[in-house]
Amino acid sequence: MDSAEYHSALSALTWQIELGVDTCIADEPINRYEVPAKVEKPAAPAAPVAAVAVVAAPVGEVDVVAAARAAAAGAQDLEGLRAALEAFPHCELKLGARNLVFSDGAPGARVMIVGEAPGRDEDREGRPFVGRAGQLLDKMLAAIDLNRDSSVYITNVLPWRPPQNRDPKPEEIAMMQPFLQRHIALAAPDVLVVVGNHACQALLGKRGITRLRGDWTTAEGKPAIPMFHPAYLLRNPAAKREAWADLLALKARLADG
Ligand code: URA
Repeated sequence: MDSAEYHSALSALTWQIELGVDTCIADEPINRYEVPAKVEKPAAPAAPVAAVAVVAAPVGEVDVVAAARAAAAGAQDLEGLRAALEAFPHCELKLGARNLVFSDGAPGARVMIVGEAPGRDEDREGRPFVGRAGQLLDKMLAAIDLNRDSSVYITNVLPWRPPQNRDPKPEEIAMMQPFLQRHIALAAPDVLVVVGNHACQALLGKRGITRLRGDWTTAEGKPAIPMFHPAYLLRNPAAKREAWADLLALKARLADG
């Protein structure tokens, strides 16, 4: 490649990044405006059965939530569930992610924390809550004598990073919900900590963390307490006061047995 080609490739790449492209999913570009070559009509099949066999279901017709439900239900333990997610072909977030972010902490712990989705640091490491928000979460937990080594298990609603940390889409939450439900059933915690609006949407079917936080409710048959997301607390330190009250409520609940 000569210098002119190099600079024109570089400016094309810069332009794409400015447009929001952050993932390369193939070696060659695909021109989606190109009219596809006309598909030859096959000769009449010898028997009706053969005709059925050659018609593939269009991708749009796959019921991805039903597929997720079936894949999740087949998992008999946490490793099986991780493998089911690794093999799940219907979530496009996977294409742009470096790693599956399944969980961290102590499986079987009394407390299970459900966050939103991996960010850049989590995507790199393949573990939830390892960036700045995660460091704050660890400090909050330590303040009530909890930690990932022995007393807390952590996951997210989405196991793959959304591009540029955008919010999870409702259809992505719906698709991953059966995996989350199975995850909770297999991890079998005593209580759930539902962190932020997207986790509330997935587990409680509603948003409005400012109103919901601190009030015990039930999710997946477990006592659950919604709390502010630590990323929100980083942006709004004044809300740490409420977060502290919620942590004390969690501590009291655990002490009650
Ligand atoms: N925010 C989340 O909700 N989850 C993570 O894993 C990291 C940041």
